[in-house]
Amino acid sequence: PDFETILTETSGRVGIITLNRPKALNALNAQVMRDVTAAAADFDADPVIGAIVLTGSEKAFAAGADIKEMSTKSYAEVLGEALFAGWDALTRVRTPIVAAVSGYALGGGCELAMLADIIVASETAVFGQPEINLGVIPGIGGSQRLTRAIGKAKAMDLILTGRRLKVDEAERLGLVSRVVPAGDHLTAAVEVAETIASKSLPSVILAKEAVNTAFETTLAEGVRAERALFFATFATDDQTEGMAAFVEKREPDFRHR
Ligand code: HXC
Repeated sequence: PDFETILTETSGRVGIITLNRPKALNALNAQVMRDVTAAAADFDADPVIGAIVLTGSEKAFAAGADIKEMSTKSYAEVLGEALFAGWDALTRVRTPIVAAVSGYALGGGCELAMLADIIVASETAVFGQPEINLGVIPGIGGSQRLTRAIGKAKAMDLILTGRRLKVDEAERLGLVSRVVPAGDHLTAAVEVAETIASKSLPSVILAKEAVNTAFETTLAEGVRAERALFFATFATDDQTEGMAAFVEKREPDFRHR
């Protein structure tokens, strides 16, 4: 399908979504939300795709929600249309999403990166939740996901002051999974995605669900959920193959079933 604000391509078992509003530094308007969530759902439904990469440009992953688009909206309008609620669709994508971040990941851009499962960032990446400077607050999960990612002390600091986080601090705080030299973020993210896509897709889906459960429940319930998911892997052909391959000292030939 054709999208207005993004480019999509596949590379083997990896689906790549590139935000493509260069003149607006990939500001996230309603069309971007529709395009990204639709493309991600399409890749998720495609059994050949084992991981998704989400990226922007060198200068900006995304400079936030589109301020021009929302600047004149009233309370009744944002309430009525549930502004930005459509982004929640990304939480229902079961295929792992790797964000490849270069340059600005501010406001909604930082929140979009946090909706991914893994963030691979270039040395040039800058994160932040500057909404407070606009007289608003994060609205795509930033106050929740940033706090879970880096803790209250740092989340309060960033969200209340609007200050920017350079990539070394972002990595130290655990917001970012890997930092790579400038310009290498997409290649590195695709490599991570290819590695994930080479594993058994059922195990990958169950593993992602298990980790995400840690954010939704108590430790005891989470461990119980993990156990049920772990037992479920024994219903797959890939468990038989993966363990047989180890015993026979060869590489597994996963069939993703
Ligand atoms: C709309 C944006 C934009 C945005 C940049 N642009 N960010 N348009 N919404 N979030 C546009 C600019 O208006 C400009 O277009 C063009 O992109 C290039 O931007 P410049 O500002 O000229 O670039 P530069 O000087 O390099 O500065 C880069 C920047 C700055 C530091 C990233 O653009 C910036 O501060 N952007 C806003 C960052 C921000 O506050 N994000 C949070 C948004 S609120 P024109 O046509 O004018 O040249 C948000 C909250 C969501 O995400 C939920 C709660 C409401």
